[in-house]
Amino acid sequence: MSDWSEATLERARQIIARYPEKRSAVMPLLYLAMAEEGWLTDHAIEQVAELLDLTPAQVQSVASFYTMYKREPVGRYLISVCTSISCMLCGSDDVLHAIEDEADLPAGETDDDGLLTVEHVECLGACGGAPVVQVNYELIEGVTPEKARELVRWLRNATPAVVNTDEMQELFGGRRSFDWAIPTEDGAVGPYPAFQPYGTVGQDRRS
Ligand code: FES
Repeated sequence: MSDWSEATLERARQIIARYPEKRSAVMPLLYLAMAEEGWLTDHAIEQVAELLDLTPAQVQSVASFYTMYKREPVGRYLISVCTSISCMLCGSDDVLHAIEDEADLPAGETDDDGLLTVEHVECLGACGGAPVVQVNYELIEGVTPEKARELVRWLRNATPAVVNTDEMQELFGGRRSFDWAIPTEDGAVGPYPAFQPYGTVGQDRRS
């Protein structure tokens, strides 16, 4: 039934081979499906089910439990603003409103061009760098409303092929919880996390 690319199908087979039980590969395969189709279409759910000898309902039950699996189209850049307690106390509501205003988009919506989706999310586990924003799950810490507006304009105008946490932290971030020991050269190429083993990671090769 598949019309996935051969490269994606091969990646799926490699991921499945890592597990003693096929069905254990459901979560990485859902990310792979999002990379292939942009979001979890009915076809993507059926394809994952077929690859894992599951029913579409079983795959759907996993996909619908976790918010990072998107069952509706999302923009090329998914902007997630943490509004849990630490970030809220450090001004995340103002950051979210600045993003909504600059993007002309309420949280939970995607623009007509399919470029931006804005959402607010629960704690991202980076409370020490609050307030925190992610673009395609790449983290930026210590974001101010002004920098948040710059971030939206940058995404619109530069439309980077890859978003990378270190680059965005440099451009739009503030106080960081701690420095990474190793710089992150890879980044995300779509509205799903950049995981090297899943093949959903990218590199900006312009320089
Ligand atoms: S409360 Fe925002 S990262 Fe924890």
